[in-house]
Amino acid sequence: MKNYKIAILAGDGIGPEIMKEAVKVLKLVEERNDVQFTLCEAPFGGTAYFEYGHPFPEQTKKICDEADAVLKGTIGLSHEESEKIPVDLRPERGALLPLRKRLNTYANIRPVYLPRELAHFSPLKPEIIGDGIDIIMIRELVGGLYFGEKELGVNARGLRYVKETLEYDEEQIARIVHVAFRQSMKRKRILHNIHKANVLKSSVLWNEIVEEVAREYPEVEVKHLLVDAAATLLCLKPGQFDVMVMENMFGDILSDQGGGLLGSLGLMPSACLGDHTAYYEPSHGSAPDIAGKNMANPYSMIGSVAMMLELSFDMAKESKNIWHAMQSVFGQGYSTPDLSRPGCNVKMISTGEFGDRVVEELRKSG
Ligand code: IPM
Ligand code: MG
Repeated sequence: MKNYKIAILAGDGIGPEIMKEAVKVLKLVEERNDVQFTLCEAPFGGTAYFEYGHPFPEQTKKICDEADAVLKGTIGLSHEESEKIPVDLRPERGALLPLRKRLNTYANIRPVYLPRELAHFSPLKPEIIGDGIDIIMIRELVGGLYFGEKELGVNARGLRYVKETLEYDEEQIARIVHVAFRQSMKRKRILHNIHKANVLKSSVLWNEIVEEVAREYPEVEVKHLLVDAAATLLCLKPGQFDVMVMENMFGDILSDQGGGLLGSLGLMPSACLGDHTAYYEPSHGSAPDIAGKNMANPYSMIGSVAMMLELSFDMAKESKNIWHAMQSVFGQGYSTPDLSRPGCNVKMISTGEFGDRVVEELRKSG
């Protein structure tokens, strides 16, 4: 029997309640497969700061280092709570970015997937959605502006100034571009390379590397697209996109736009892959306004489990079963309050009931 150690970082806000549903799904997967999951819960984020004095405590680092995969919930506090924490120890800077750097998870895979069962959540008109949206956004996750040198001071004229640097070397670019080409080979073989080479030198080098790597994948058609144009075209003609690759900051922004196309960031799970390890997380924040109310949809968290099973544990079939189970719960007209908009005709259920129904559907699949 295979035994996998999973670090469970539930985090802040809605993190613990959506994680609870993800764990229900993992338990069923364990029950009906020749596999055992050892779940190691560890503190992470703003709540960890208040309890342990650090948002990414040493014991959590150790658990992550020793795990076969990390499953992370959400982090972030309300504005008022955040203000009580020194800037560099707030959960984003003090926990999340260090986690990414520590595990060197440079490839962030964010599916923007709108199957028929979810189409009513999207704000787009049916004629724009067409046959549905099925995009994989691939975002570089450990470089660029997020991790460049920063300088803050007062200049010679006595004015406060700030300097942030965007740095990539060819190796960093090539490895993420390879991930994108490999994904593309498994799909429609159309790869959109997102850049801003009309202004940024970093994009000029990025595009050069894309061209070089492209020679190894002659079956893939590469389309270069400026990031601003991509933002527009995602709204106007999302069906033309299959795999998109981009640097860290562009990916942060366009993947949130992806959530907008679907109707909610709550529908965006993600995988963060390195060469040796991986962690999985919803693409959204901790929604402190609805935390603890059993209202948040666990789709992105359970979807992250599905991605983990496929990508870390080689369990593609169970992964597919989980996606289908979630879609069929939506297909039966159920939803949680966070996803519904006025005029949306849905049967409202809680976070916990949604998880239970997913488990029930999953039981039906072979
Ligand atoms: C994301 C988030 C993070 C990011 C924040 C929480 C630091 O927005 O994963 O997209 O900017 O990468
Ligand atoms: Mg983001």
